[in-house]
Amino acid sequence: MKKLTILLLIFLSVTSFAQKFEDLAQTPPMGWNSWNKFGCNVSEKLICEMADAMVNNGMLEAGYTYLVIDDCWQVSRDSLGNIVVDPERFPNGMKAVADYVHKKGLKFGIYSCAGSATCQGRPGSRGYQFQDARTYAKWGVDYLKYDWCNEEGQNAKAAYKTMSDALKECGRPIVFSICEWGENKPWEWGKGIGHLWRTTADIRDCYQCTFDWGGLGVLDIIDKQAALQQHAGPGHWNDPDMLEVGNGGMTFDEYKTHFTMWAMLAAPLMAGNDLRNMDVQTKEILTNADVIAVNQDKLGQQATKFMDMGEYEIWAKPLANGEVAVCFMNRTSQPWKLNYDWKKQTMYFATEVSVHKKEYNVFDLWEHKNVGKTSDRLVKDIPPHGVLVVRLSVVK
Ligand code: GLA
Repeated sequence: MKKLTILLLIFLSVTSFAQKFEDLAQTPPMGWNSWNKFGCNVSEKLICEMADAMVNNGMLEAGYTYLVIDDCWQVSRDSLGNIVVDPERFPNGMKAVADYVHKKGLKFGIYSCAGSATCQGRPGSRGYQFQDARTYAKWGVDYLKYDWCNEEGQNAKAAYKTMSDALKECGRPIVFSICEWGENKPWEWGKGIGHLWRTTADIRDCYQCTFDWGGLGVLDIIDKQAALQQHAGPGHWNDPDMLEVGNGGMTFDEYKTHFTMWAMLAAPLMAGNDLRNMDVQTKEILTNADVIAVNQDKLGQQATKFMDMGEYEIWAKPLANGEVAVCFMNRTSQPWKLNYDWKKQTMYFATEVSVHKKEYNVFDLWEHKNVGKTSDRLVKDIPPHGVLVVRLSVVK
C-alpha cells in the first residue's frame, strides 16, 4: 500500500511537471538576451547590471521578464561531465547570478547547443542533455535557448526532443527555445517539444541586407514569416530572432517597423540592446504598451499579410474581444501617402471583424489616440521604411 502511494505521488509529480511545461509561454516570451549587443562578452557583472536596469528603466514593468545569457558562459566539463561555468567571468557561479536575477523579480535564462560544441566552440549538450537539464534546474534556470551548431548529422526533431524530455523531467518548469534557424522546418514538429522556434538565420542590425553566411535584415525576415502564420499559437511560437532595437544600425522609423512587425507576428520580444543606457527613442519603442498589448494578446494569432501591393503591404492580426490590429507597411524609401477607404475593403480582417457590418474606432498605436472611425478615410503619410499600425474596436 505504502509502495502504491509513493508510486502514485511520483506519477502525479511527473505529470504535473509535464503539464506545467505545456502551459508555459501562453503569450510570446518577453525578455532580454545578451547576444546581439555583447556577443561573447558576458559576465556576472554585466548580467546583474542588466537586471538592475530592467527593473529601474521600466522594462520589467512593460513585460520583459526573462533575462537570458547567450553563448560563452561555459568553458569545459569536469571529470564527472558537469558543465563548468567560466570562473573568471562568473566568479560566484551561475546559481548566484540566478538568485540575483530572481530577487529582482525577473526570470533567468541560459543557452546551450544540441551539438557537441556551441556556435562559439564552447561545450555543447550532446550526450549530456539530462545531466545539463538537472544542473539548470539546480541553478534555477527558467528558460533555455538551444542552438544547432556542430550538430554532426543528428536528426533535428530527435535532438530537440531529447533535450525537451530532459527539461520535462528536471523538476523545474523551463521554457524551451529551439534555435535551429528554420533549417528543418521546426514549425512542423516543434509544438509540444519547445515553446518557440527560430524560423530564419540570425538577424542583422539593418532594415534590408543579406550576408553570405545567412544573416538577414528585418525586411527579409518579415518576408519569410508570411507563410508560417498557421503554426503559431499559445504555447508555441514562430521566432523571427531577437530584437536589434537600440543597437544603432537602423533609423527610428525602421526600428519602429521592426518592433511593430514583431508584435504583429506574435513573435517573442527579446530585447538585444544595452539596457543600461537606452536613449529616449529606444525606450519609447521597447516600452510601447499599446504595441506590446497586440503582441501579448491572449488569442495568440500571428498576423497574416492581408494585402500585398508590392511595395506597400497591409497586415492584420485578429485579437481577443473581436478586435483587430492592422499594420500598413511602407517598404519604399519614399513616404506612402495613404488615403485609405475602409469601406472599399472587400475582405474580412478576421472572421468576426467586418467594416461592412459594424463601425470601428481606429486607434493609432504610436500616436496613442483615436484617429477616426472606419466610416472615415484613413489619411496619413507613412515615412520611408515605416509603418502605421492601428487597432480597430467596435464603436459602442
Ligand atoms: C547562433 C544563434 C545566435 C547566437 C549565436 C551564439 O548563431 O543563432 O542567436 O545564439 O549562435 O553563438
